[in-house]
Amino acid sequence: MATAVYPGSFDPITYGHLDIIRRAAEVFDKVIVGVLKNQTKTPLFDFDERVEMIREVVKEFPNVEVVSFHGLLIEFTKKMNADVIVRGIRAVSDFEYELMMAQTNKQLNPEVETMFFATSAKYSFLSSSTVRELAMFDGDITPFVPDCVRERINAKIQANRA
Ligand code: PNS
Repeated sequence: MATAVYPGSFDPITYGHLDIIRRAAEVFDKVIVGVLKNQTKTPLFDFDERVEMIREVVKEFPNVEVVSFHGLLIEFTKKMNADVIVRGIRAVSDFEYELMMAQTNKQLNPEVETMFFATSAKYSFLSSSTVRELAMFDGDITPFVPDCVRERINAKIQANRA
């Protein structure tokens, strides 16, 4: 039984993330979405809000779980008894950082493989930071995030303005 961890900050989760989760859930018996708690920069959504939103949008996948972690990803992966770390690669610009992470994690625990999914072409430009910026300037984010996430982003931005 192969279990994969799909880690990230998910501030907020986008259709790009969901695409990787859906595809990983078809390949692996179990996928654990690992939500990073230790962030240096201030996120738009606090940690509990991010976890709540992800749970809402992955509830249709029976073999996907959402679990938070802080500290090292490789320790979390071990704790979850997972064999694989999944990451999406959008473009060459992602590659250097992703390779560095994969190699560091391999050094820390050679038993865990990192496997990359090529991001679907229609999401190759999409990132959480783009979504945050678009929303901040009242751009339409409907094509990029599920409705329940869009509503929460817009509410959060309104609240931050007040
Ligand atoms: O969605 P992101 O922000 O690109 O995800 C980055 C993440 C969470 C995968 C990465 O920052 C991470 O693994 N952080 C945990 C700390 C860690 O293990 N660092 C060593 C890996 S080089």
